[in-house]
Amino acid sequence: MGETEIKKGLAGVVVDTTAISKVNPETNSLLYRGYPVQELAAGQPFEAVAYLLWNGELPDPEQLAEFERRERSLRQLAPGTIELLDRMPRDAHPMDLLRTVVSRIGALDATMLDQASWTDPDADLRRATELLAQIPTIIAAIQRGRRGQDPIAPREDLDYARNFLWMTFGELPSDAAVDAFRVSLILYAEHSFNASTFTARVIASTTSDLYSAVVGAIGALKGPLHGGANEAVMHIIDEIGAPENVAPWLDAALAKKRKIMGFGHRVYKRGDSRVPTMDAALQRLFAEGGADVAALQGVYTELEREFVSRKGIYPNLDYPSGPAYRLLGFDTEIFTPLFVAARIVGWTAHIREQAASNALIRPLSAYDGPDERHLGDSLG
Ligand code: SDX
Repeated sequence: MGETEIKKGLAGVVVDTTAISKVNPETNSLLYRGYPVQELAAGQPFEAVAYLLWNGELPDPEQLAEFERRERSLRQLAPGTIELLDRMPRDAHPMDLLRTVVSRIGALDATMLDQASWTDPDADLRRATELLAQIPTIIAAIQRGRRGQDPIAPREDLDYARNFLWMTFGELPSDAAVDAFRVSLILYAEHSFNASTFTARVIASTTSDLYSAVVGAIGALKGPLHGGANEAVMHIIDEIGAPENVAPWLDAALAKKRKIMGFGHRVYKRGDSRVPTMDAALQRLFAEGGADVAALQGVYTELEREFVSRKGIYPNLDYPSGPAYRLLGFDTEIFTPLFVAARIVGWTAHIREQAASNALIRPLSAYDGPDERHLGDSLG
């Protein structure tokens, strides 16, 4: 066999087709079932985008009303969930808590006792809708628990984004806050074969169940090179503290060859197609925050300007999303769980697509260990 070309990290390798989304670095664009994500973010409810990614078409008014009714009816947590959270270490990372609760939801799903249902697309749509509805309730309870506050029950009279903010903060949010949050959820919902989605597809390809695939995807998303970057961005901005500190901070960071979180992308090499839309939503939050957020805005603007001018590496979606979530009031460690709340839509769409394809994912490796040897060989 000739010299095998290794594609580390599967960079640039097309491993399958998908009808769910198209990421095009040539045109710097992202299509959800054919629709440009910017058009969807301009005015669609997050629930309509979830319906589109799952079903392939945008819902008509009756279909949307039924989808919303069903999602709202599923927001309550199963008995014992809050008690489980209360028994976990107070300083456990929210991604670990979320991963644990999702795993429990799967263990409590009695339909899982029938192995044939593990790859049933209708059963999986029900499971996906329940996770979509309950993950915000879990995240809100985690944030409130971190602050010594009791959980707030979900409200069925509020849409997904507004209810999420209500359960977290106990007050009805401004329209600007709801809109920025809605935009972030739509932009985070789906992005073809990113690391966490591909993790979910690998697990689904063995005909394992949706909950196992989602738990695996949560583990992959936690990494700072992937979804954990939005939390890491905020830690960096807090560490820098003021615009005049950006240049010396970057000097030191780049001297240590640190990766600057929130910048760069495996697929987009001339900027992430989603950033302008998220940045515009963030600028609206900056405008609403006024002088109180001037330092944050200053560091955000100066760090991007300085890093892009030095390295020609552009922001990804995590860069504007981190500061936006700070302005919405979320704890920094809650930022990546918010990514989960949106990406559960893309993950579960891909899990159902992979299950329908019946193709086990199992790549090859090139061995570079010791040559064959045997126990009786002379001890050398
Ligand atoms: C997400 O795939 C998706 O679609 C993911 C995502 C989604 O929606 O699911 O878009 C969400 O995960 C966005 C990415 C979030 N991660 C970060 O912000 C972490 C910081 N970024 C880097 O780690 C990096 O840019 C990656 C991991 C995102 C992509 O890296 P690649 O494509 O593997 O490129 P690379 O690491 O090989 O970098 C190429 C060069 C290197 O320099 P050299 O070693 O060749 O000299 O660019 C440099 C890198 O050092 N570089 C960076 C950098 N990103 C690339 N240097 C400093 N800081 C960075 N952020």
